[in-house]
Amino acid sequence: MAIMEEECLKVSSEGLVAEIVVNRPKSLNALNADVLQSINLTIPKILKNEQIRAIIIRGEGEKAFVAGADIHSMSQLGPRAIADYVELGQRAMRCIEAARVPVIAAVNGYALGGGMELALACDIIIASKAAKFGQPEVNLGIIPGFGGTQRLIQRCGLGAARRLILSGEIISAEEASHIGLVDKLAEPADLITVAQQFAQTIAAKAPLAVRGAKDVLRASQEQSLLSGLRLEVEKFLELFGSVDREEGMNAFMQKREAKFVGK
Ligand code: CAA
Repeated sequence: MAIMEEECLKVSSEGLVAEIVVNRPKSLNALNADVLQSINLTIPKILKNEQIRAIIIRGEGEKAFVAGADIHSMSQLGPRAIADYVELGQRAMRCIEAARVPVIAAVNGYALGGGMELALACDIIIASKAAKFGQPEVNLGIIPGFGGTQRLIQRCGLGAARRLILSGEIISAEEASHIGLVDKLAEPADLITVAQQFAQTIAAKAPLAVRGAKDVLRASQEQSLLSGLRLEVEKFLELFGSVDREEGMNAFMQKREAKFVGK
């Protein structure tokens, strides 16, 4: 079901899973201010529907997930406007990262610059074997501006981040998988199915537990080990009192499928 149709973003949902498609194929889905603004508006709208338990983000067309921030529009901006634009991009990435449900990037082609940063803001990256990744900003005299310098280190370590960001090298999906950037590889024709299946797998789990796990995992990147461990215990105890915890454990002991209600 289409729940929102904007020129630059197509949003739909089916059952428990919503899908966002970046829709500027002629520009290889480059992120202009309209796309970034739409992401900021769309995610809270999607999440108003309590039924939604996972979101997939992908790019329109065969060629690109997202080929980066929009170089044409960026090149026209003065110091004030570029600051607003980078802020907007950072907010959009944060909106994805902090969404209450897991977000899966289904990367079908080029994921470069801001496009790779978009994928990095997602919880899971599933890529077609034909996808290509890179942070080529140094070719343009800039550095990543939508969180890439930080999130690439968190995901792949400082060595890989240095190598990719300092050289602008473009790598294959297979290599991206090898360095831990990509979580799952799919044949190009199967990408959407694999992403949907993974989203359904997550959607079938106890929603409060998935949400709690996402929050605590994110905290590991934003807080010290000790406060992260404290948060883990708090969240664990909170979830232990939930209806779904009782159902999950009973279902295990009774050797049946659990029926989760999100309470
Ligand atoms: N911004 C705006 N338009 C873009 C774009 C981008 N990032 N990437 C591609 N396009 C446009 C091209 O201008 C072209 O438009 P026209 O047909 O109107 O000329 C169209 O998409 C198709 O692109 P190409 O003809 O270049 O296609 P190709 O197959 O020859 O090359 C590519 C594909 C290797 C991805 C190449 O387009 C490319 O290098 N793109 C730029 C990648 C890049 O540098 N990204 C980083 C941007 S900076 C950034 O993201 C900063 C940040 O972190 C905030």
